[in-house]
Amino acid sequence: MSQILQDARAFEALHGPTILPEQRPAFHLSPYIGWMNDPNGFSFYGGQYHMFYQYHPYDSHWGPMHWGHAVSRDLLHWEFLPCALAPDMPYDKDGCFSGSAITLPDGRQMLMYTGVRHETDSSGQTREVQTQNLAFGDGMNYEKYSGNPVLTEADLPAGGSRYDFRDPKILQASDGTYLALIANDQKGVGGQILVYRSRDALHWSLVGPLASNHNRLGLMWECPDFFRLDGYDVLLASAQDMLPKDFEYHNGNGSFYLLGHCGESDGSYTVESDHAADYGIDFYAPQTVLTPDGRRVMIGWMQNWDTCNLHTRWVPWFGQMSLPRELSVRNGVLCQRPIRELELMRKDEVRHTHVLIRDEERQLPGVSGRMADLELEIESVGPVFSRFAIRFAKNDLYQTTVSFRPHESVLKIDRKFSGSRRAIIHQRRAKVRHDQGRLKLRLILDRFSAEVFVGDGEQVLSATVSTDLSAQDISFFADGAVRLNVVSYRLEA
Ligand code: FRU
Repeated sequence: MSQILQDARAFEALHGPTILPEQRPAFHLSPYIGWMNDPNGFSFYGGQYHMFYQYHPYDSHWGPMHWGHAVSRDLLHWEFLPCALAPDMPYDKDGCFSGSAITLPDGRQMLMYTGVRHETDSSGQTREVQTQNLAFGDGMNYEKYSGNPVLTEADLPAGGSRYDFRDPKILQASDGTYLALIANDQKGVGGQILVYRSRDALHWSLVGPLASNHNRLGLMWECPDFFRLDGYDVLLASAQDMLPKDFEYHNGNGSFYLLGHCGESDGSYTVESDHAADYGIDFYAPQTVLTPDGRRVMIGWMQNWDTCNLHTRWVPWFGQMSLPRELSVRNGVLCQRPIRELELMRKDEVRHTHVLIRDEERQLPGVSGRMADLELEIESVGPVFSRFAIRFAKNDLYQTTVSFRPHESVLKIDRKFSGSRRAIIHQRRAKVRHDQGRLKLRLILDRFSAEVFVGDGEQVLSATVSTDLSAQDISFFADGAVRLNVVSYRLEA
C-alpha cells in the first residue's frame, strides 16, 4: 500500500471518530472526515451495499481526490471503511475522480475511475489530463491495475477533449461483455456520453457516442448512469453551465434524466424527453444500484457547486448524500420515493386529520423535530387558497419554508433563514400538478437537510440547511383556507 494511502487511512482513523454522531446527518451518508462530493462505485458486493465517494480527508473543501468508502445493509445505516483509493500513481497523482464498480466472474470487485494528472503547457497554463483506470479489490483493499491507464486520449474520437474525459460507469451487457459509459467534451458537439466495450474488462475499444448534447443541456456532461426501467432506457447525467428552461434546470450545474429507447441492434438511442432529476437546491452526480430484490435505487450528492464553498474551513465535515430513492417511470416521468426501509425507522406516529388552517400560522401538537417524516395532504376549503406553507428547522431566528401557490402551480423551497453564511442561492421553484389546490407532499428531515417528495414522487426538491439544531419547530401557514391531513413520525436511526 502506498504511503499516500497509508497516510490518508491513518488521518481519517485518528480524526473521523472525533465527530460525534449527533453532529452529522443520522441516516444520510456524510464523509468520515473532511470533504465529500460525488457518489462513486455504488454497488452491491459481498452481501452489502458499497458506496465510495469523492473525498478530501484533510480539509472540508475540495482538494486532491481520494475515494472514501462506506458499507451498509439498508442504505440508511452506514459503516465507514478505510479510504479505498489515493492519488498515488503518475497517472492519477492529482486526483482519483469519479467512477463505478462491478463484480468480476472471479469474485473480485473492480473499480473503474478517472485518473487526473496536471500538465502545464508552454504558455504556462495548467490543465487536467484525464484517463480511465482500474483497481481490483475484496471490498476493503484495492490494488491498482499494472496496465493502467486503460483508456487515454488515444481512445477518443477525433476532436474529443483529453481534459474532459471522465466518470466511467461500467455495465454488463446481456451477452456478458462489459460496457463503459464515459463523459467527454467534443469540439463542435459539446458534452457527450461515449460507449466503450470490452470482453475482459481490461482491454477497451470505442463503440461510439450514446448521446450527444449539442449544447442543449448545458455544456460538458458528467457522471453518466444508464439503465432499463419500466420499458424505458434511462440516461442520468449531470451538466455544467445549464441555462434555465421554463421551470427546469435552474441550478447552473444540474443533474437531468433522459427517457428514451435503444435500437435493437444498431446502438442508437432515441430520446423522448428530458427533465431535471431534482428541483431543489442541492442534488448532483447521482448514481444508481440494482438491489438484490430488483429495485433501481438512486443516490446523489446533496450539494451544489455554487454554494459548496461558503462554509468556513473549520467545520469537520462537509457534503452529504441524498436519501436513497426507489425509481420508477410513470406517465413519462421518472418518479422517486424514499427507500421503503426508511419506514422501519418511524417512531411516535402523530395524526391530525381535517385541520382547518385559515389565514394563520400554527403548530400542531406532537409535530416538531429535525429528524422527521411528514406526510401532508392539502386541499382548499371554499375558494382556492393563495398560499400554503410548512416551516421547519424553526425558532425565533430561523426557518426553512416549503410554500405552495396553487394559482401559479408553484412549489418553492426557501432556506434564506437557515444560518448559511450568505443568504444566496437560497430558493428553488418547481411547477407542480395539483387539482384545485389539492396536493400531496412528503417531507423528510435529517438534521441538516430537507427532501420534499411531490405527489407520488413525480418531483423532488432537496436542500441542505446549516441551521443550528436548537431550531426544532414545525408550523403550518395558510393565506386563505386550507384543510390539512398530517401524519408525522420521528425518525430514529
Ligand atoms: C462532478 C465532478 C466529476 C469529477 C468529480 C471531481 O461533480 O466534477 O465530473 O469526476 O466531480 O471531484
